[in-house]
Amino acid sequence: MNNSPKLRIIERFERSQNYRKTIHNLIPGGAHTYTKGDDQFPALSPAAISHGKGAYVWDLDGNQYLDCSMGLTSVSLGHAYKPVLDRVREELEKGANFQRPSYIEKEMAEAFLALIPCHDMIKFSKNGSSVTTAAVKLARAYTGRDFVAFPGDHPFYSVDDWFIGRTACDRGVPQATKDLSLTFKSYDLNSLKELFEKYPNQIACVITEPEKEDNTPQDYLPKAIELAHQYGALFIVDEMISGFKSDFPGSTTRYGIEPDMCTWGKGIANGFSFCALTGKKHVMELGGIRNIGDAKVFLASTTHGGETHAIAAGLATIKAFKENNVIEHNHKIGDLLVAKLRQCIAQKGLEKHIAIAGTKWLSYTVFRDFEGNVSMSLRTLMLQEMIKRGVLYQGAFVPCFSHTEQDVDYFIEAFSQSCDVFKLALNDSTEKYLVGEPTKPVFRKYL
Ligand SMILES: Cc1ncc(COP(=O)(O)O)c(C=O)c1O
Repeated sequence: MNNSPKLRIIERFERSQNYRKTIHNLIPGGAHTYTKGDDQFPALSPAAISHGKGAYVWDLDGNQYLDCSMGLTSVSLGHAYKPVLDRVREELEKGANFQRPSYIEKEMAEAFLALIPCHDMIKFSKNGSSVTTAAVKLARAYTGRDFVAFPGDHPFYSVDDWFIGRTACDRGVPQATKDLSLTFKSYDLNSLKELFEKYPNQIACVITEPEKEDNTPQDYLPKAIELAHQYGALFIVDEMISGFKSDFPGSTTRYGIEPDMCTWGKGIANGFSFCALTGKKHVMELGGIRNIGDAKVFLASTTHGGETHAIAAGLATIKAFKENNVIEHNHKIGDLLVAKLRQCIAQKGLEKHIAIAGTKWLSYTVFRDFEGNVSMSLRTLMLQEMIKRGVLYQGAFVPCFSHTEQDVDYFIEAFSQSCDVFKLALNDSTEKYLVGEPTKPVFRKYL
């Protein structure tokens, strides 16, 4: 008997096609992050989502998909997760924003800081970019230095000019701003040391994601922090993606390190807009109002930073992580998916063409042609075929608490069938099987 899951075959995208026709007249880019844009998906794909529940989302045509990126990694428990919604609803009845802080800000400050004992103070905001930018600003204020250093081979740290100015999309960023951002090779202490020696007493901080691959050397982060401190710079760990994924609360506690500041967002409020900067008192206090006579640092001051129901979502998310061992579940699902993916790729004899990278909590696939070059066409074809089989795949899988082992089996069956089309295209031509244009990199110089 064949125990393979029966796949939902999706071929109707009429409403999506209509949505695509008009949305670009209304919203530049057609979305509020470039990663969600039409140029990031095959032509045969949902243009917008109508709703989600657990590990599933539905598009405008009523098609159901297994979700893989979970709101760009922000939904750590599942869509419309009931205990979070119940807490949010309770808070909504009491009002969303007031002239003075809400009581819930203190409750969250205490709850979050209890998770990260090396930090004493916390500042909230609505977006990850505003907290990474706030961390950079504090470091500049604290050290009196202007330069900021980050790994040039990492994808994203902020929508703000200090980061975007160093990408291919630097249009609109003044040269003077670009010149203040320096890059080094990720997880390479020598490369970081060279920067410090080239710019003596000028680098305010290093900001980096803690780990992007399962094989990140254990001693890299402690040594990098020591190096930064030796040269008088602060060290910021950006836990935007790793937070509530690599561990609870994140890689900082997993590695037992003590960065000066950490930045948090995405999965910490199950998709609601709640982000945070945590740090050591002597640095964070610069953003305070107690040191009378000191020059004031205008740190992450936002109208919506204290929005009550988003903070309530964060509190409910923390509670769910504590009560349910979410990390263990998510890692188990992630490990299972990677193991089965490897098996599937080997069975299809596609090891040279499909590689798996990343971590158990965010694995991704890389597609290569016969010359060994990364192929956007083959990648797009694979996304098209996965989407056709009911999996909203963009090349990455982020396990959440609502994913089950059955979902992994469904994913693998869809992947296995998609590999058969992939092989046909490899041996013939991608154009014959791919409908529409290949996807394009988010960070590109020209449209
Ligand atoms: C590592 C990292 N830092 C910062 C950000 C910025 O977060 P946001 O999109 O919430 O501004 C992102 C977003 O993708 C990120 O991946």
